[in-house]
Amino acid sequence: MTKTALVCGAGGFIGGHLVKRLKREGFWVRGVDLKFPPFAETEADDFAVGDLRDQYFCRQITDRRFDEVYQLAADMGGAGYIFTGEHDADVMHNSATINLNMLDACQKRNVRGMFYSSSACMYPEHNQMDPNNPNCAEDSAYPANPDSEYGWEKLFSERLYLAYNRNHGMRNRVARYHNIFGPEGTWDGGKEKAPAAVCRKVAQATNGGDVDIWGDGTQTRSFLFIEECLEGTIRLTRSDFEGPVNVGSEEMVTINQLVDIVADIAGKKLHKKHIPGPLGVRGRNSDNRLIGQKLGWKPSATLRSGLEKTYEWIERQVRGNKERAKAA
Ligand code: NAD
Ligand code: GDD
Repeated sequence: MTKTALVCGAGGFIGGHLVKRLKREGFWVRGVDLKFPPFAETEADDFAVGDLRDQYFCRQITDRRFDEVYQLAADMGGAGYIFTGEHDADVMHNSATINLNMLDACQKRNVRGMFYSSSACMYPEHNQMDPNNPNCAEDSAYPANPDSEYGWEKLFSERLYLAYNRNHGMRNRVARYHNIFGPEGTWDGGKEKAPAAVCRKVAQATNGGDVDIWGDGTQTRSFLFIEECLEGTIRLTRSDFEGPVNVGSEEMVTINQLVDIVADIAGKKLHKKHIPGPLGVRGRNSDNRLIGQKLGWKPSATLRSGLEKTYEWIERQVRGNKERAKAA
C-alpha cells in the first residue's frame, strides 16, 4: 500500500524540502500551509492552503489515514525576528495554538504519532554565555531559562507532545533543530538567519567593500545543511526513540568565520563592519552524543559544502532581483 504523509508548514523552508524528499521515497503527500512555497512549485499530491490556528481546519486536513505526520508550521525567523521582542505575543500565541490544535486533531483521528520540530532556542541562556564552551546537551534543558519567548513556546510544546505520548498512547517524536540552512530558505525581508543573510550581503557587496555584521562577530553558532536536517528528522520519526534530541551540526564557528568562508566561496575580499543588532546567545553548538547513541547516525557534512550550494542559490536570487529592477 502507498505510504502517506502530512506535512504542516509545507510552504516553508524545511517543509518544502521534506515534501520533495518524501515524494522521492514514494509517499503520497498532503502539504498544508498559509501559503504555497515561494521559490518552487510544491511537489505535494495535495496542498491545502489554510490556517492551522483554526481547529476546524485541523480536523479537515486530518480526514484520512496518515502513516507519518510532520508538524513544522510555526511563527518563526532568525535573530532579526525573534530577538527584537516586537513579535513575542504573536510568536507564542500562533505557534502554541497550532500545536494545541494539531495534537488534538491527530489524537482524535487516531494518528499514531507526529514529528515535532523544537529548537535549540529552548536551551538555558546561562549555559550559552561563553562563546567557546556552550552547553547544549539535551539534559541541560532544566532549570529552564530560554532567552526568547520563541524558546519558551518551543519548550512548552515539546512538553505537550510528550504529555500526549504518556496520556494518549501516541508515539510523538521531538527534535531540537540547530540553525538549519540551504537553498530555498528565507534570504531577505527580516526573517532570514545568519547563513542566508551573510550570503546575501556578500553577494551584494563589491570586491573590497564592506559587509555589515551584527555584534562583534565573535558570537558562535553551528549551522546544519537542509539535507542532513531531513535525514535526522526522518530517522527520528521512524525510530523507537521519542527524544527530545538535538538535530544539528557540531562544527561551531564564529559569525566572523562564517563571513570569511562565504567571502572565500564568492572569491571576494571584504571588510567586516560590526554594527549593533539583535544578538541572541553568545555561543551555541549542537551536542551530538545522544543522537549518535540513539539513532546510530549523526550529521557529518562540512559547513563549507552546504554554504557552497546555498551561496550559489542566493547569489542567483540577488542577480535575478537586480536584472528585474533594471528591466522595470
Ligand atoms: P519557515 O518559516 O520557512 O516555515 C514555517 C511555515 O509555517 C511557513 O511557511 C508558514 O507560512 C507556516 N505557518 C505559520 N503559521 C501558520 C499557520 N497558522 N497555519 C499554517 N501554516 C503556518 O520555517 P522553517 O525554517 O521551515 O522551520 C520549520 C520548523 O522548524 C519551525 O517549527 C521552526 O520553528 C523549526 N526550527 C527551524 C530552525 C531553522 O533554523 N530553520 C531552527 C529551529 C527550529
Ligand atoms: N539573521 C542575522 N542577520 N544574524 C546576524 C547578522 C545578520 O545580518 N549579522 C550577524 N548576525 C548574528 C546574530 O546577531 C546572531 O548572533 C547570529 O548571527 C545568529 O543569528 P541567526 O542565525 O539569525 O539566529 P540564531 O542562531 O540566534 O537563532 C536561530 O537558530 C535557532 C536554532 O538554533 C533562529 O533561526 C531560531 O529561530 C532557531 O530556532
